[in-house]
Amino acid sequence: MDLKNIDSVTREALDHYVFPLVSKTDVNSGDPIIFKSGKGMMMTDIMDKSYLDMLSTNTRASSLGFANEYIAKAVYDQLMELHYAGTFAHVADVTVKLSAKIAELAPGELTASTFGGSGSEANENSFKFAREYHIHKGDKPYARKIISRWDAYHGATMGAIGATDILGTRHITEPGVPGHRRIPAPFLYRTPFGMDASEVCDFCVDYLEQEIIHEGPEYVAAFIAEPVMQGDGAQVPPDDYFKKVRAVCDKYDVLLIADEVITGFGRTGKWFAMEHWGIEADIMSTAKAITGGYAPLGASTVTQKIADTLPIFSHLQTYQGHPAACAASLATIGYIEKNDLITQSAEHGAHFLEQLQRLRDLPIVGDVRGLGMWTCVDFTSDKKTKAPFKDGTIKRIVHRCRDMGVLIGEEGTAVEMSPPYIASKDELDTCVDTLEKAIIAEAKHLGIS
Ligand SMILES: Cc1ncc(COP(=O)(O)O)c(C=O)c1O
Repeated sequence: MDLKNIDSVTREALDHYVFPLVSKTDVNSGDPIIFKSGKGMMMTDIMDKSYLDMLSTNTRASSLGFANEYIAKAVYDQLMELHYAGTFAHVADVTVKLSAKIAELAPGELTASTFGGSGSEANENSFKFAREYHIHKGDKPYARKIISRWDAYHGATMGAIGATDILGTRHITEPGVPGHRRIPAPFLYRTPFGMDASEVCDFCVDYLEQEIIHEGPEYVAAFIAEPVMQGDGAQVPPDDYFKKVRAVCDKYDVLLIADEVITGFGRTGKWFAMEHWGIEADIMSTAKAITGGYAPLGASTVTQKIADTLPIFSHLQTYQGHPAACAASLATIGYIEKNDLITQSAEHGAHFLEQLQRLRDLPIVGDVRGLGMWTCVDFTSDKKTKAPFKDGTIKRIVHRCRDMGVLIGEEGTAVEMSPPYIASKDELDTCVDTLEKAIIAEAKHLGIS
């Protein structure tokens, strides 16, 4: 955005807002777009330019698009009926009802939920559940450690950031919270240590087992993993990975936490991504699409066995399970069910990925991958060595699309698309055409043919 042309009140207000993860140089050069409205798939900025949102916004939360009256009305009605009731001895009925709805949808034995205001808080709760479970069960009362993975993102609060690796948020907080370990993740394009893709699954699972043994199984509470990782764009794991991870966790009584903050509530074409591999986690964290971005909410859902083991859950926050957010969530889920958007997300996602495959022929495209409504195109300056670009190429591709009116995201070595589930096939095709033009223009700019 050209900051010279924005109104003086907004220009001045900008000096008072601290942008997360945007450098001051980028702010001053007008990089962040400031939006004023949205409708369906479209967002409009304060200069009246409209964009097709192929990201569900850059946090991927706005999974059902903008100005959904059904959800907005549910929030309004709840605020007028009972806007708040407290959290522990008093609680709103809508909060309890949402727990029951999640129990109905969640895989297997995941039946009991507590809430927070974000994905980070969902993971904080998941870690507390894991630790409190081991304390109360008694077999491993000192099990506190959490194992996560290289390139993971689990949030920005201190516990969640302890498990996080990417986005440049980790190092500034270190030494951080003790008791976190990280192991390699099963990336299949740029594999750990450059190994053959066929070796990645067993290597990563063996590494998990060795890490548990090395730390001492009696000290390890849980392993946390995103079913599909966002690091360097939509990393879909090998088919057997979670089955083998589940077996290792069971062997050492280490709880498996599925961080479904991005993938949960339909993003990958199933209600929850772990369903793709038939795996049941012990604890599941969700947020984002749980309300389609209409209100802040995160949930930590545990198996009945864990819930029954805890005589009490030692945790409390003023706004956990806020009625407006829970009403937004029930309406979001209701809207998905009424319009069969999980089926649509699977079908349209498959169409989208198929269309994107043609970009593989372009000289700077290394990989195209995804699951459901979450796809990415990964770039390289050399298809043999898979060397990533380090020179702003990815950002320029994102900006080229933006200039053509399509919002996509920069994700490390890749660009990412995570469209709202309501995206039509025509809109998805428009995104592919636009991205193709942007990549061709960038390859020309780089002199690579
Ligand atoms: C997988 C995952 N877990 C946790 C979080 C943290 O969620 P929040 O930003 O709502 O705190 C995110 C956010 O992007 C995420 O992608």
